[in-house]
Amino acid sequence: MSNSDFGLIGLAVMGQNLVLNVESRGFQVSVYNRTTAVTDSFVAAHPGKKLVGAQSLEEFVQSLASPRKVMIMVKAGGPVDAVIESLIPLLAPGDIIIDGGNSLYTDTERRDQWLGDLGFRFIGAGVSGGEEGARKGPSIMPGGPASTWDVMKPIFESIAAVVDGEPCVTHIGPGGAGHYVKMIHNGIEYGDMQLICEAYNIFKAAGFTPAELAKVFTDWNQGDLESYLIQITSKIFAEIDPLTGEPIVDKILDTAGQKGTGKWTIMNAVENAVVISTINAAVEARILSSMKDQRVHAATLLEGPPAQLSGDKALLVQKVHDALFASKIISYAQGLALIASMGQEKNWGLDLGKIAAIWRGGCIIRARFLNDITDAYRSDPSLSNLMLAPFFTNLLNQFQQNWREVISTATLAGIPVPAFSASLGYYDSYRSSVLPANLLQAQRDFFGAHTYERIDKPRGEMFHTDWPEVIG
Ligand code: 6PG
Repeated sequence: MSNSDFGLIGLAVMGQNLVLNVESRGFQVSVYNRTTAVTDSFVAAHPGKKLVGAQSLEEFVQSLASPRKVMIMVKAGGPVDAVIESLIPLLAPGDIIIDGGNSLYTDTERRDQWLGDLGFRFIGAGVSGGEEGARKGPSIMPGGPASTWDVMKPIFESIAAVVDGEPCVTHIGPGGAGHYVKMIHNGIEYGDMQLICEAYNIFKAAGFTPAELAKVFTDWNQGDLESYLIQITSKIFAEIDPLTGEPIVDKILDTAGQKGTGKWTIMNAVENAVVISTINAAVEARILSSMKDQRVHAATLLEGPPAQLSGDKALLVQKVHDALFASKIISYAQGLALIASMGQEKNWGLDLGKIAAIWRGGCIIRARFLNDITDAYRSDPSLSNLMLAPFFTNLLNQFQQNWREVISTATLAGIPVPAFSASLGYYDSYRSSVLPANLLQAQRDFFGAHTYERIDKPRGEMFHTDWPEVIG
């Protein structure tokens, strides 16, 4: 019978949870997985639910009401294309394919063109929130034609997280815009995580135990830093390893993994000439963390001060709070500036206020201060940089002294704080009306006759100096 409202291919954890979420909102859902035993056990594990387990793609497609709505939740890259290719001969014009994985936005643009030419409708949708978000309400970032969004809107709005009565989903823009914004979300996620790790490293050097840190992060989560990542961090510090009876955080090897979305973000930023130094530092910190053997060797050769801090712990907590919050503002300012720049370049018509609003719930970077970011863009949609919104200007002015002190203290103790420092470097550069690039221009002119502009002549007028010859 062709009467399922929605179909999903790929029953890994995210896929399964999304299916249960859609079904719980009153829709009948057909499911297909390449290994059909997974489909069978999934359907069997949820008796009484409006689920149709298909044994073949043909059966799956036939079970869907027209226009068919098929969501693909498989590994990004080749597997997405392979599923689409096998679907094409089975679907009818006007059917909708949704890719809900972490696909590279340029792949989404290619698929949008490819499927559009064949008469199908395609949505590239970023879905954030991990397993729990998928089940209870993720943040969804769909891109594609507005007319296709209109068809999908009732289902997407019913399954998304809700904040202040607003669902955490909105039509982001055409083509690859949805996956693009999800990519930047992930870059910001990398930045948030690294900043928290740097705070932890400073506290560790000051002798805080995991139990004390659980308390610090629980307290922070009651205040202006309230966010999902701060919350889970408090729970991580409180978790005890059943094998040793000691805090689990002390038993986990210090080498970070990454699937690539952070790297894609910084590659895109370089291409667009937008500075995202905090995210850059976060990606590089993961790379350095993975060089465990080299670090262990270097630790025996390269000197530095002992990574030990002393002093009033409560005062340190306040200062690190300020440094973390200030750096976090910078990271979002950079990520949003990149979205704005790319949106203009691509003519996507992006609404930064709406993007910030749908990040307030469901996703990994959800945080109280996204309300303030939403307000900042709603009151000034053409805001050139988040730091210049009065609310954030005030916070940065308030935090900057402690931010500097934390970075100086850490640096003098040999504690690496690359993301804190990168953020402060951006702040100080951005607020400098004069930078030393006059010297840089002179150097370029010296060795390459690249010319320069003068401070006492109109912009655009170029000058060259006959520099002395350098012998040898
Ligand atoms: C989300 C997450 C999700 C996933 C990333 C993690 O928004 O739900 O970002 O997409 O956790 O793939 O990426 P790394 O493995 O690169 O940390």
